[in-house]
Amino acid sequence: MTSKGECDVIAGRSIFRSLLLALSLWLACAPDAARAAPRRALQAAAVASPDRYGAIAARTVLRAGGNAVDAAVATAFALAVTYPEAGNLGGGGFMTLYMDGKPYFLDYRERAPAAATPDMYLGPNGEPVADLSAVGNLSVAVPGTVRGLAEAHHRFGRLSWKQDLAPAIALARAGFVVSPQLIGIRDGAKAQFAKTTNFTPWAAGLQAGQLFRQPELANVLQRIAERGPDGFYAGPTADLIVAQMSRGPVKGLITRADLQAYRAAWRTPVQGRWRGYDVITAPPPSSGGIALLQMLTMKADAARLFAGQPLNSPQYLHLLAEIEKRVFADRAVYLGDPDFVTTPVASLTAPDYLARRAREIDPVKPSATGAVRPGLEKPQTTHFSIVDRWGNAVSNTYTLNGWFGSGVVVEGGGFLLNDEMDDFSAKPGAPNMYGVVGGSANAIAPFKRPLSSMTPTILTRNGRVAMVLGTPGGSRIFTSVFQVIVDTYDFAMPLRAAVAAPRYHHQLLPPDTLFAEPYAPFPAALAAALRARGYRLENQDFNGDIEAIRVDGGRPTVAPDPRARGFALVIP
Ligand code: DON
Repeated sequence: MTSKGECDVIAGRSIFRSLLLALSLWLACAPDAARAAPRRALQAAAVASPDRYGAIAARTVLRAGGNAVDAAVATAFALAVTYPEAGNLGGGGFMTLYMDGKPYFLDYRERAPAAATPDMYLGPNGEPVADLSAVGNLSVAVPGTVRGLAEAHHRFGRLSWKQDLAPAIALARAGFVVSPQLIGIRDGAKAQFAKTTNFTPWAAGLQAGQLFRQPELANVLQRIAERGPDGFYAGPTADLIVAQMSRGPVKGLITRADLQAYRAAWRTPVQGRWRGYDVITAPPPSSGGIALLQMLTMKADAARLFAGQPLNSPQYLHLLAEIEKRVFADRAVYLGDPDFVTTPVASLTAPDYLARRAREIDPVKPSATGAVRPGLEKPQTTHFSIVDRWGNAVSNTYTLNGWFGSGVVVEGGGFLLNDEMDDFSAKPGAPNMYGVVGGSANAIAPFKRPLSSMTPTILTRNGRVAMVLGTPGGSRIFTSVFQVIVDTYDFAMPLRAAVAAPRYHHQLLPPDTLFAEPYAPFPAALAAALRARGYRLENQDFNGDIEAIRVDGGRPTVAPDPRARGFALVIP
């Protein structure tokens, strides 16, 4: 890959030397349309995973001749065993792929059960009942992960399905060593689950530094290995899920028919150009890809305002907040499941629309929250990134929603179920667990997918993979992905430094509030300068777990997020 800077340097030296060099310069620096470069293998494969077991599972199948999709399937199933707070069988997610030089997007987001109704979380007073959409049986949407992974494998896998599942089955049977970080997350989560779920007895099996064996989960994985998705959506596993719905104080809605009817969907990824890169990212039902492109484009449009502003200076953060305000105003109104609502993707990412939005930025003070309207005329999760030696890439974010999802463990199956129903708007204007609001586009309906922020993203340059990244973090996801991309390319930071750099967040509501991270609170001078401009400052407990790979000249470098227990490997 040749960067713009390299092209300039080559040009300076070579034009006078020889025609041959001039020709190679043209080949290296010509616009995309002029080059049909043969695809070149990378010097190594790479994986960036939220834990070491996921990375090792990927390495096992890559070494056996598997491609990026085989590795993704192996990592996703392994994390369902070793990363129970977010890795899953009982949740859903999105996979952005770049295979044989072409972009793809797989939506395996959970869907509302057939019996879901728009007001199912409202009490007699018409207000959302606390926790009903986030904890226990009623918060569970129909899981999509197993169907999604099978679909990806069916279309692109090189190894057998059983080979891809083998590392996960071995980990479930033999056990994995529980990290102190997992114990911390469990301890933080358990109080909310205590009254209405069976989380406590299951979670008591997790002891820091000890092996955690999951024989029931191994049996479920074995059934999936042998029967494909029917090992989950039919037969004994489906029976266990349905039986779980009627246990405990709050009954759930998922039926056998709901499980049988679940389908993943291939969708057209959101794509845009930014600084010579093709950005390939998540379309609805994620808001993340549209938001990421909006942010990258508005920042480039407002280049004059950003010029000379040091990273994370008061003025820089103010300008970012101005952009984020406008992105979240659009998100709340326009975005929902594309099978149910028409999302104006092209209009929301159109260059002239974003240029107009960028012109609305107040360069000095926060724009009044109420004045930031949707702009068109009419109106706990985990991520891993993989590249293989053929230059294919998978960027996968999947989730149970909150850590450990609904807290409901399928008895006899040993796996947790999601609480993805909380990503719907229970009532227009009522904030969900991430504090974001929505309207009718994201209202609950049978079989509908809730709006997401997950943003698995791939950047390519001249047809070759340049970066693969994503993160958990709810509404912080796309602002985190944005900051890592910008820190890497606009601020020329090495990938590990860009991933480690402090991240800040604003989301329109609460008004004029900027969030920092617990381990990097606002430095005193920055805090004083931002307060003087009218911002309220808050430290939040979580700001993502980016797992990123960058490829330069066919050579991958990897960056697991130091915030958690990420682990990355370059596999020669
Ligand atoms: O789809 C979404 O946007 C959320 N359910 C993601 C949840 C998440 O990132 C939790 N992370 N800690």
